[in-house]
Amino acid sequence: MSSPRRVLVVGAGAMGRRWAAAVAARDDLELVAWVDTESDVAARAVADLASRGAEPNHSVLVEDSLARALVATTPDFVIDVAVPEAHRDVTLACLSEKVPVLGEKPMAVTLDEARELIEASERSGTLFAVSQSRRYNAQLAALRGLVDDHLGHPEIVACWFYKAPHFGGFREEMDSPLVVDMAIHAFDVARWIVGSDPVSVYCEEHNPSWSWYRGAASATAVFELSGGERFSYSGSWCSPGLETSWEGDWRVTSAAGTATWDGACTPVAELGSSTVLGVSDATAPAGISGSLAEFVRALDGGPAPMGECHDNVKSLAMTLAAVRSAATGLRVPVTWA
Ligand SMILES: NC(=O)c1ccc[n+]([C@@H]2O[C@H](COP(=O)([O-])OP(=O)(O)OC[C@H]3O[C@@H](n4cnc5c(N)ncnc54)[C@H](O)[C@@H]3O)[C@@H](O)[C@H]2O)c1
Repeated sequence: MSSPRRVLVVGAGAMGRRWAAAVAARDDLELVAWVDTESDVAARAVADLASRGAEPNHSVLVEDSLARALVATTPDFVIDVAVPEAHRDVTLACLSEKVPVLGEKPMAVTLDEARELIEASERSGTLFAVSQSRRYNAQLAALRGLVDDHLGHPEIVACWFYKAPHFGGFREEMDSPLVVDMAIHAFDVARWIVGSDPVSVYCEEHNPSWSWYRGAASATAVFELSGGERFSYSGSWCSPGLETSWEGDWRVTSAAGTATWDGACTPVAELGSSTVLGVSDATAPAGISGSLAEFVRALDGGPAPMGECHDNVKSLAMTLAAVRSAATGLRVPVTWA
């Protein structure tokens, strides 16, 4: 077997720890460095990883400087799990050294930043993809299979998302927490199911009187897509009782019939008098393990990952346009070029 690929992880927060565990779970990858501006946070994370039995059989460099860590460990690729505000600088630093990057969502904070990263990827000829991890779900793939095999062209797509998590921390303080931090996943899934590009959006944000979030924790948005489809999203992060799954509750309709998925059970389609169950591949790696597997396959010469930056920017554009629509009260175009 060839030697394992050397991986540098940036960010040792809650999600960075999950990524490091996903790397440690694969024999063909080796965590060589963990960078966090708070180096004691990274040092604790390395110790915790070891205590959970995922001890790498080599030392992991703990650094607070990405530049130093890149020089010291010459990684084969970097996983960027730092806070969104750092994604631009982290990604540019890696791409300028021709080190491929698998970044957490969102790609960047603004579209200008995202375009800068796409240009850097093109200029350096280096892969930059964003992990939109909720796409890697066997039941979601089954829903998409029902659409492709039975529905044909769906023009009505809807997602309900109602939960009531108490996160504490930045989500309870940020502007537009639901749209920016969570709804981006549903927006991304909707355009993937339909196979069309976003065109425009009208969105209203709302913060219910009992909300424990500073920014708007509820939103309703209607997107037009390039095939004339409409995607309606309605969600809240302060909706206690009868909560939906974390994937949301989906309904997809074409002239042939309707498919539904509650984010937890096998999706089902009703087509005239027949009912068809979705077919899931339970062996497919899920969540971040799925996006990691796809990224590694791309480095091996396989197809570009689903979250390759030229495509993923469209999901960021949907999110930023929804925020702009809510702020202006206008239907706004979704643009990314
Ligand atoms: N796909 C998902 O379902 C999902 C879920 C949660 C978080 N995320 C994403 O993962 C990323 C991290 O989220 P989190 O919840 O782990 O946040 P977090 O705040 O727990 O951790 C972020 C870490 O990044 C470090 N950091 C900040 N700036 C840095 C820099 N310039 N260089 C190196 N380290 C830096 C911080 O010190 C902190 O330890 C975000 O982009 C978030 O949107 C995705």
